[in-house]
Amino acid sequence: VPAPRKPCPFATAAEIEAALVQAGGVKPLARRVGGHQHTLEKWCAELGANRRAAAGPPPVAPVFDTDDGSWLLAHLERLGDAATIEELADAADVPPRRVRDAAARLAERGYRIGGEDARVVLERVPPAPAGQIVPLPETALFAGEKVRLGVVSDTHIASREHRNRELQTAYHVLADEGVTTVLHLGDLVAGRGIYRHQDRDLVAHTFETQVDLAVELYPRLPGVRTLMISGNHDLEGEFGRMGADPVRAFAARRDDVEYLGEYDAWLELPNGAHIHMLHPGGGASYALSYRPQKLCESYEQGRKPAALLLGHYHRRGDFEHRAIQTLLCGTFEGSTALAKRLGLGQPAIGFHSIEATIADDGSLVDWWPRWRKFHTGRRLEAA
Ligand SMILES: [Fe+2]
Ligand SMILES: [Fe+2]
Repeated sequence: VPAPRKPCPFATAAEIEAALVQAGGVKPLARRVGGHQHTLEKWCAELGANRRAAAGPPPVAPVFDTDDGSWLLAHLERLGDAATIEELADAADVPPRRVRDAAARLAERGYRIGGEDARVVLERVPPAPAGQIVPLPETALFAGEKVRLGVVSDTHIASREHRNRELQTAYHVLADEGVTTVLHLGDLVAGRGIYRHQDRDLVAHTFETQVDLAVELYPRLPGVRTLMISGNHDLEGEFGRMGADPVRAFAARRDDVEYLGEYDAWLELPNGAHIHMLHPGGGASYALSYRPQKLCESYEQGRKPAALLLGHYHRRGDFEHRAIQTLLCGTFEGSTALAKRLGLGQPAIGFHSIEATIADDGSLVDWWPRWRKFHTGRRLEAA
């Protein structure tokens, strides 16, 4: 004979559901009333109660779970920073509550969210990183003596590919900007006997005619002086064998030109900083910065220049290594037959104007090398 069923202590569905919620489910409630789980389930069925009442409403996957409020920024941008919450909710097709949540999240991320209840006002102020004390602005760190310089290189006068029109333009642009000192990084002339069959690339074939051509063609503008070093095309090959230096000869005939030396020179800037002007030897590596980086590493600690200006590569580069501002200074020679044969790529025809600031202690604190480039075949024709 089966044991008689325990009488149901609950009168209504609501009563049993309330008990389920309190106890935390069917099993704990069955234990509490001293019955079996199946008995309790039967009572629920008889009274029409929801036996899962304790579980609450079924869980809904949160839609904006990974929401960081970014979507609100886009709407604020479109509707204006002071759009009302209603307008934003309409635009985003979300409940206003979600707009408020997103605004709160933006505020947590450091956006300044303000305004009255009905509005979201976004101030585009960059947030201060948490936990960091914003120091007093030390703008004086960047104060110092200002220096302006023009920089040209590798003109290769007497080469068929010498770009004199561009060189003249460069000097006029620099003079218009108020530059009074231009640096030349070597290879003033093309020279002779530097590589096999060079004669085909030349328009003047002797020391005298190349120097004459340079004196005649090199830009001369009132109030502008040029400081110059020589390079391998000036000093090597045939001219070198006869012990002649075309840059020295050229400078002797031009009162606007000062010759600083063979291959390199150190220039003293205000407050004891230095620029090293260098026309290095050898070819360029595939990575443009490799050899300049090696050059930067060759200075002893304490004997570094503030800036290293490099001729010879006929390319343009601008990088910093060991706190040395390093520039590859381009050229005024187009692509020669040799360059094409060697697959050297397009030369960078152009010039720099540099603005620099040197602090009292000699630190280079501002360095603005402005590069202007001539594109092959790009010309302004007279109307
Ligand atoms: Fe050169
Ligand atoms: Fe060179």
